[in-house]
Amino acid sequence: MNVIDAIFSRRSIRKFKDITIAEKDIKIILSAGMSAPSGYNAQTWRFVILDHSKEGVSKKIAAINPYASMAQTAPMSILVCGTKAENVPIDFWVVDCSACIQNMLLAAYSLGIGSLWTGIYPIEDRMKAFSEFCKLPQNIFAHSLIILGYADEAKPRKEIYNENFVHYDFWENK
Ligand SMILES: Cc1cc2nc3c(=O)[nH]c(=O)nc-3n(C[C@H](O)[C@H](O)[C@H](O)COP(=O)(O)O)c2cc1C
Repeated sequence: MNVIDAIFSRRSIRKFKDITIAEKDIKIILSAGMSAPSGYNAQTWRFVILDHSKEGVSKKIAAINPYASMAQTAPMSILVCGTKAENVPIDFWVVDCSACIQNMLLAAYSLGIGSLWTGIYPIEDRMKAFSEFCKLPQNIFAHSLIILGYADEAKPRKEIYNENFVHYDFWENK
């Protein structure tokens, strides 16, 4: 699939079919995330794979973030976490994880798998709740939860260009 087509056609999916995702596809999605650019090439992302067929998992997700309640119709999700890189002068983990996630969404889409990015960082209560739920070590921070599954809804392609957001050389130049 052409990358430009994938960028404009990927949409947030909030209704999922009861079909599991093959292990090999999960690996491709993770690998796409791990292949993103990162500050100092520090690759500060880490992942926890959540199987929603396990008792209480998707209910707990919905309890932590009501805006992620559609996890209850999806087979799985991936908790993307970040860690502070050692021996680098600036902490880019939040930015690294964001680039990683966008790669994962596009990779999933190109495999025919729907996804939804649900926010955790910088909401401290949510970070703490996911940290406790997934028993994260002290140096690992919950960044976002990516819900994955085969789409049970169709959404139109979206191509946005807003000239008001664009400036040339100096802010006042239009
Ligand atoms: C940081 C972040 C947090 C988000 N959190 C949620 C969420 O908790 N629940 C949800 O339904 N969508 C969430 N979204 C998805 C956005 O609502 C969605 O990307 C936006 O409406 C644009 O729609 P599109 O992805 O179909 O282009 C989040 C997106 C981002 C980038």
